[in-house]
Amino acid sequence: MITIPILCLFSACGSGEKLDFPPGFIWGAACSAYQTEGDNFKNDWYQWEKINSFIGTPAGKAVNSYVLYDTDAKLVKDINLNSFRFSVEWSRVEPERGVWDDAEIEHYRQVLTSITSRGIRPFLTLHHFTNPLWVMNLDHQQVPIADLGGWENPETAVEFAEYAGKLAREYGDQVDYWLTINEPIIIALSGYLYGLYPPGERVFSPGQITQKVIPVMKNLITAHALAADAIRANDLVDADGDGRATVVGLAESVVLWDPYPPDDPQAQAAARRLDQFYSKNLFDSLTAGGFDDNLDGVADDTRTEWQGRLDFIGFNYYNHWYVVNIPLLPAPIAALPCISFRGLDLSQLGVGCPAQIGEKSDMGYEIYPEGIYRILKDLSGRYTVPILITENGIATTDGEKRAQFLADHLRWVHRAVSEGMNVIGYIYWSLTDNWEWGTFTPRFGLYTVDYQNNYERQLNRGGEVMGEIAECNCLSLGILKRYPVRK
Ligand code: BGC
Repeated sequence: MITIPILCLFSACGSGEKLDFPPGFIWGAACSAYQTEGDNFKNDWYQWEKINSFIGTPAGKAVNSYVLYDTDAKLVKDINLNSFRFSVEWSRVEPERGVWDDAEIEHYRQVLTSITSRGIRPFLTLHHFTNPLWVMNLDHQQVPIADLGGWENPETAVEFAEYAGKLAREYGDQVDYWLTINEPIIIALSGYLYGLYPPGERVFSPGQITQKVIPVMKNLITAHALAADAIRANDLVDADGDGRATVVGLAESVVLWDPYPPDDPQAQAAARRLDQFYSKNLFDSLTAGGFDDNLDGVADDTRTEWQGRLDFIGFNYYNHWYVVNIPLLPAPIAALPCISFRGLDLSQLGVGCPAQIGEKSDMGYEIYPEGIYRILKDLSGRYTVPILITENGIATTDGEKRAQFLADHLRWVHRAVSEGMNVIGYIYWSLTDNWEWGTFTPRFGLYTVDYQNNYERQLNRGGEVMGEIAECNCLSLGILKRYPVRK
């Protein structure tokens, strides 16, 4: 286990001292295959973008990273990051069930070599939202391929573990840190409740959560557990020489849910239910082996095959949302999440959600740096494994705003570390601007991409600041002064 020494306390560090992070702290940036590579034709998202009018612009060449991967690895190095999170596109390496594409496997070996040869540690994600067509085919008329029916089918979990084992055998000599699935809860909710992701079920019937969303979640949990076993069995090489051949986790979306009204006990209970449903059920299952079906705080479905399958808790933090208790809404949640997303803002609809206040990102998300600390505190009080921030970032075209965002959030991460929480690193989303699941408009990158000019990448002020922080492994006095705490 990685231990973190106690550093200066937040309050004592404010005046005149730089804020140091522990030696070996993970500083990284992230991306995913479909959002950056370009020319991915063999998965469900490629079909999805054609059949959905709300997809503004298809991914197309994305940011051309399939070609520019070596440039990207250099960009990571140029800003002193010691880690890079990227994903392998399952449909490239296994275009048909059980059939491996040797050229694509070789391609990702070269991607990995470009990363590791620069002394950067890869964090390899196996699944970042896209499924091969033989797993999920949305258009049988055009594409006569039999599919497994996606994440409703337990066979998909078994196939996913085969793929994980194969990659562990192929890349174990270069990879120690594995992330199986990106945001299982988003796959389940966006695919089977909101209809925003494939297969696009938008069903608000009372049983949809218990009969569809929760079984899909459990199948994703099983997929992770089987994949973790396959990785541990097949990656026997300690690539970075730290004594461990595999460190297996995933990246789950974690929202800071606050009750509204704040001191209403029923709203507080509603916020707890939503939090349990949204992320704790997954983490509880993969640490202690128990899933709380009815959200009463006690595990109902206990399975030893889920237990102990996380070497770290990985979470993506973007949102602080309120929760209103509405008993008439379907059990077991019976609560309304006050989400605001792109154009949608529930506070406008007279359903009891508070008005949105404060500064927002270009995604319409409230910027709430303290949330990252509150989540770290909550998770580290509940789980014993180390915690990694696998994504945190801001959509903005203003580099100074990104720099301020970084300083604000990292002050709170530093406070968590100084209080002794076992936080092992911070990975910013994203290295470059990229395709944001239907649009190129939100710009998350530390590097701004010029889409009109050969996808040229230009470091912005946020990237410069991230580079300074990673180099010094601290928030320097210069950064603290230039980006002060805002009231
Ligand atoms: C996803 C990324 C996405 C980012 C910003 C995360 O939930 O993992 O794919 O680009 O959020 O919206």
